[in-house]
Amino acid sequence: MDQITFKHDTVLSDVHMHRPNSQHLMMRLTSVGQPVFMSRFRILAESRDDSNSGKGLTNEEKQSSPRKGGATSHEQDEEGGSQENVEPFLDEDGDLDVTHRPRKNSVDDGGRDLVCPIILQQSVPDLEQDEEIVDDDDEEEHDCSKDIIRIEHTMATPLEDVGKQVWRGALLLADFILSNPDTFRGATVLDLGAGTGLTSIVMATTAKTVYCTDVGDDVLRLCSRNVVLNKHIMESTGGEVKVKQLNWLQHSLCTDVDMEFSWTEEEVADLYDNTSFIIAADVCYDDDLTDSLFRTLYRLCSSFNHTCTVFISLEKRMNFSLRHMDVCCEAYSHFKHCLTQLQDLEDGRCRFTVEHVPLNFSQFLLYERIEQLELWKVTASSLAFEQTQSDSN
Ligand SMILES: C[S@@+](CC[C@H](N)C(=O)[O-])C[C@H]1O[C@@H](n2cnc3c(N)ncnc32)[C@H](O)[C@@H]1O
Repeated sequence: MDQITFKHDTVLSDVHMHRPNSQHLMMRLTSVGQPVFMSRFRILAESRDDSNSGKGLTNEEKQSSPRKGGATSHEQDEEGGSQENVEPFLDEDGDLDVTHRPRKNSVDDGGRDLVCPIILQQSVPDLEQDEEIVDDDDEEEHDCSKDIIRIEHTMATPLEDVGKQVWRGALLLADFILSNPDTFRGATVLDLGAGTGLTSIVMATTAKTVYCTDVGDDVLRLCSRNVVLNKHIMESTGGEVKVKQLNWLQHSLCTDVDMEFSWTEEEVADLYDNTSFIIAADVCYDDDLTDSLFRTLYRLCSSFNHTCTVFISLEKRMNFSLRHMDVCCEAYSHFKHCLTQLQDLEDGRCRFTVEHVPLNFSQFLLYERIEQLELWKVTASSLAFEQTQSDSN
């Protein structure tokens, strides 16, 4: 197997599309036979951006940064080839002759890199062994591994498996968390539709407990493995990621001890008593799922006895619609409709306020912060809690 086959319902995240060829290391196959790759996401630190004293890159700075324009979140140092061999000189008539530098990943398919995975191993390796394989390859990386998030993911999946890839919304939300660590410090957080778990892992660098949830054993296993791979990143703060099943289409949480990714009674109580933040990255792409996501948000928030803040990131994906005979994003329109419905809701239990979050926070991960990316904040206030507060005042 040396190339990925695309079928009509195959989707590939932009995050993985622009990866340099040399980084395509296939680790193993999932239990349903999909090739799993390893990507490393470097968290930019102080030394990488002197002008911004440790705050990563802001949107504007990124525009003027040499890394702008298509650089993705991965380690992209190889992008664009070397600076050598750029030698302008004059020919015998005095015309300027420029030798173009060779591109490292030169391809003849219109600029898009061909995906040629290198198979490292095909059985599921144990994690200790895997650590050795990755770290022995690059000692420098081993040294600053606290700055590198390693994520196993697939590269192209049918729609039902999109959670096995990393999406740009996850990187945007991770940036927001890294830019506002004090907001989430020590908190209990619920991540809905967490996929590979990248955002939960970043959240656990500051939060106390992150319930990292999705649906389906295969994606949850991939996610669990990523949590183990990145344990060292959370060690210093003591943050913990708990990978659990939470299906927006079901009302209750599974507490059956015989089921993988089920909840203990204590965890359920902790979730309801202490969750102060809910996060969700790139989860609004199908109207029925968006409806069930919003029903889940309503169900959870209205049963809390405290205020909860929800952050939802998304990417507006523009398509040509035959119905509208124009380019539009129907999934986005439906998302906005759900936000309005939530805000207008008057049930006597909970009040929701909605805000659009400006994307002027720093960029710690390298990816293209395209204008279609958005972040929304929903504040859910329990009316019973507000009443108790005002009575006690
Ligand atoms: C586009 S992926 C986003 C994954 C991840 N948050 C990211 O941004 O990389 C959408 C996620 O929603 C999850 N999802 C879809 N339907 C769901 C449901 N009914 N209950 C819970 N999660 C669901 C998928 O499994 C997938 O992980």
